[in-house]
Amino acid sequence: MLTVPVSLSANPYEIVISSDFFPQFGTFFKKWTNGARHAIIISDTNVEPLYAMKIAEILAESGVENDLCVVEAGEESKCVEVAQMLWERLIECGADRKTVITAVGGGVVGDLAGFVAATINRGLPFIQVPTTLLAQVDSSVGGKTGINIPQGKNLVGAFWQPKGVFMDMAVLRTLDERQYRAGMAEVVKYGVIMDADFFAFLEKNVEKINSRDESILSQIIARCCALKAEVVLEDERETSGRRAILNYGHTFGHVVEKLGGFGTWLHGEGVGIGMTFAARLALKLDPENSELKELQKRQDALLEMLRIPTRIPDFPRDEILNTMLRDKKTENGTLRFVLPNRLGDCVMKTIQGIEKFI
Ligand SMILES: NC(=O)c1ccc[n+]([C@@H]2O[C@H](COP(=O)([O-])OP(=O)(O)OC[C@H]3O[C@@H](n4cnc5c(N)ncnc54)[C@H](O)[C@@H]3O)[C@@H](O)[C@H]2O)c1
Ligand SMILES: [Zn+2]
Repeated sequence: MLTVPVSLSANPYEIVISSDFFPQFGTFFKKWTNGARHAIIISDTNVEPLYAMKIAEILAESGVENDLCVVEAGEESKCVEVAQMLWERLIECGADRKTVITAVGGGVVGDLAGFVAATINRGLPFIQVPTTLLAQVDSSVGGKTGINIPQGKNLVGAFWQPKGVFMDMAVLRTLDERQYRAGMAEVVKYGVIMDADFFAFLEKNVEKINSRDESILSQIIARCCALKAEVVLEDERETSGRRAILNYGHTFGHVVEKLGGFGTWLHGEGVGIGMTFAARLALKLDPENSELKELQKRQDALLEMLRIPTRIPDFPRDEILNTMLRDKKTENGTLRFVLPNRLGDCVMKTIQGIEKFI
């Protein structure tokens, strides 16, 4: 079992990474909540039979009364109607200030349940049990919660830190191949933006990663959580700009997600293509830089070995430009892009005349 501390001064908490299906979840639940006696588990239709029922059993065995609320699997559930349904269910289930909202699922369930926890009764304690690779390395760490509205994704939300995050490697066995690879794109991202040694570790362990070796995966996930926690500690509420480095590959990734049409590309697949684009853009801006040449070569090779998409789709150039300029990182017509300096180091750069590079 590995533990990663998230040492926020107001809300310190820990991330526990176990194997063999949550053997100590009950113990940690009690420790993190000062012995709370009531939990409401929020999950989705896919994860309920796989893991949420198991979590309910473990809590019951630990003397924690619990109710289970299940939403439809999929991004569509991150909406105000489903949030409202949950607010009402929570009250019907007798939620009071000591009730612990427990999210069991991927990033959709985590964001939605976290938002509901942040808003019901002016905020209830919250625990995350992330079950996708993406949720384990990214969305469950850092306290961002939220829902979508027709005007855009994640436009309504709150920073709401969990009391603890409990993840188990064994749940990754049932994750489908595409979801697994998409989550792995975010893993590669951490190596490129923050940690060249970690990137080399990934290169060395490609085969084990592809066969979902749980011992390697737990080390990888622990490292990603520690790196994300480091950034979140420096910039908890996205005010200094530091947290923006986590958006490496995301500006162009969003273009791919949008122009590809809803549901065509998974978010992580967009990130793989977006990182490929960003590495090329960095090199176009500084063509003789040998560190950037090496980065591009190694990043391309690693993404390919991990079977993460890198080929930039043939979208019309005008549509790419328009979509990019509408992205939230645009300020006064110039584009802000997270670009690598070298493996393990990146910065936010302002780019004028992006059309020259597309
Ligand atoms: N809060 C943040 O900081 C943050 C960061 C990144 C992404 N996100 C959000 O995360 C969401 C995407 O999360 P996601 O990629 O986990 O998607 P998801 O929650 O939709 O999960 C993907 C699919 O896998 C299923 N699933 C989950 N765990 C499983 C398992 N162990 N075995 C089999 N199937 C399983 C789900 O039911 C779903 O169908 C987006 O809404 C995004 O905005 C939030
Ligand atoms: Zn992402």
